[in-house]
Amino acid sequence: MNDWIKVAQLDEIPALGARTVTMDTMTIAVFRNSKDDVFALKDECPHKKGPLSQGIVHGTTVTCPLHNWKIELDTGEAVAPDKGCAHAFDAKVEAGIVYIKAR
Ligand code: FES
Repeated sequence: MNDWIKVAQLDEIPALGARTVTMDTMTIAVFRNSKDDVFALKDECPHKKGPLSQGIVHGTTVTCPLHNWKIELDTGEAVAPDKGCAHAFDAKVEAGIVYIKAR
């Protein structure tokens, strides 16, 4: 997964939410914020593996639906005081198509 991979059309991703895609056996959450920026994280919270794809996006963070940790969408890092990191991917939009790439 070293090249950009097309995963969705931008309008298939709910604003302030996410859509999941499966790569090999990994589920990846592809998020869209209010500015139509896109981000991609492994769909697993660093706390207890909650489904980040079901969280609400605020700016450049997502709130985990299980215990409300906030996760930075660009890095996957938990916002302090919580500690942990979800695996992050590069993501971009070109001509309304969303692509992701391994880091
Ligand atoms: S599993 Fe995400 S905050 Fe607990």
